[in-house]
Amino acid sequence: DLNLFQAPILKGKRVVVTAGGTRERLDPVRFLSNDSSGKMGYAVAAAAVAAGADVTLITAPTRLDPPVGTKVVPIESTTELRDAVITAYQRADALVMAAAVADFQPLQMADQKIKKTPGETEFTLRLQPTPDILQEVAAIKQPHQVTVGFAAETQDLLANGQKKLEAKHLDLLAANDVSQAGIGFNSDDNQVTFIQPNGVTDQTPKTSKKLIAQALIKRLAETLASK
Ligand code: CTP
Ligand code: CA
Repeated sequence: DLNLFQAPILKGKRVVVTAGGTRERLDPVRFLSNDSSGKMGYAVAAAAVAAGADVTLITAPTRLDPPVGTKVVPIESTTELRDAVITAYQRADALVMAAAVADFQPLQMADQKIKKTPGETEFTLRLQPTPDILQEVAAIKQPHQVTVGFAAETQDLLANGQKKLEAKHLDLLAANDVSQAGIGFNSDDNQVTFIQPNGVTDQTPKTSKKLIAQALIKRLAETLASK
């Protein structure tokens, strides 16, 4: 433990962190989701608390205990996440979107359990894009507010990361290459490349999500201080 946060570098700051994989309901007993464990977001929330911030953790269902000292807002769907983020963001100094947000949601949720039909050889689900939360946040972003995104890429990490940073008006993007084994989804470890709007990039070593979270919070505090 590097004890980076002896100094309360986020004291008095309100930080909103999202975590986990959102769930899109098909019917009362089924949903579409992804492999996110929530570990990265929870580590960021813990690091922000350790840095003295007032932390709201908006979380999809996970197997984890929320870090002590966070205000927890549970959500399931992307739409619920969007509403909770927009509400918390109004009074926030910073937002870290570590949640693995579903990109598509069912066109409609069935009120009753979907039944199979005898002889059916194909079943079609109709999906529509979910709202892009960081893009909605970009539209209401105040000059003093800092936004941080994560990006999971399997190719062209830097080019794709830079595009996302710009499209979502981010101050910092933590991009990770999810094609590598042993990092990212569900792992205790991660390796990210931090990308800033001025084009500066730097890659962390493969290390614990806890240390990556501390490095992210340090950069977030520096960016807030420079605004
Ligand atoms: N994100 C979001 N709203 C969405 C999808 C993603 O706010 N509907 C956020 C994620 O929380 C993350 C960042 O945007 O911080 C990048 O997510 P990612 O899935 O890498 O990018 P997408 O914009 O969804 O693009 P694609 O998956 O097509 O690469
Ligand atoms: Ca996506």
